[in-house]
Amino acid sequence: MALEGCLSVSDWQAQWSVLTHYPLKRIHVDVGCYRGRFLSHLAMMCPDEHVVGVEINSEYADAANELCLGLGLENVSIVCGDALMFFRDATPQSVISEVHIYFPTPYPRAIGQRHRLVSAAFIDAVHQALLPGGSLRVLTDEVNYFGEIESLFSPMRWWSSIWQPMSVGQPTGFLAGTSSEARYRGEGRTIWALQALK
Ligand SMILES: C[S@@+](CC[C@H](N)C(=O)[O-])C[C@H]1O[C@@H](n2cnc3c(N)ncnc32)[C@H](O)[C@@H]1O
Repeated sequence: MALEGCLSVSDWQAQWSVLTHYPLKRIHVDVGCYRGRFLSHLAMMCPDEHVVGVEINSEYADAANELCLGLGLENVSIVCGDALMFFRDATPQSVISEVHIYFPTPYPRAIGQRHRLVSAAFIDAVHQALLPGGSLRVLTDEVNYFGEIESLFSPMRWWSSIWQPMSVGQPTGFLAGTSSEARYRGEGRTIWALQALK
């Protein structure tokens, strides 16, 4: 799939038939991909897999798209829109292998949103989109948001897992190597990590 520009959530819905014709084994979603640092590393390390970045801020989504275009990455799609709508309204059931949610915005009013993204409805929508055995990974430096997120994983629907290390060229000791992780580690903050399997 050639990368031409950011997609809207409804464009993305229409792309599914194209994506499923490609011989790509696994699809990752980077929720709140910011300017694309992590997703571009992931796409470079996994050229046979597809990486979708979902970003609500159009300036950041455009920057992520430009970064991936500049790197010549063809296994990336950038969707500009709300991640809840992306999973709930525009993604078929049981198609995603891995969902990465790194440093979700803890104070949504600061970006014009009324609620925190990671809610029961959001976790339910992600669960539907994941393949059986698919994985959801969360990092945050906000301990109260972490507790809130942890409480959303019903043991009836999710298997808890230890954090499975990834190799995406991140510095030693980093869990994912996103821009926020670099910044918060630099400030000496504690990073909380969770991984759950469908
Ligand atoms: C704190 S930043 C973290 C960025 C990146 N994941 C990282 O670790 O560096 C949170 C990002 O999520 C985006 N975001 C916030 N709410 C969102 C939503 N509902 N849907 C998609 N993206 C969202 C923000 O615009 C921002 O780029």
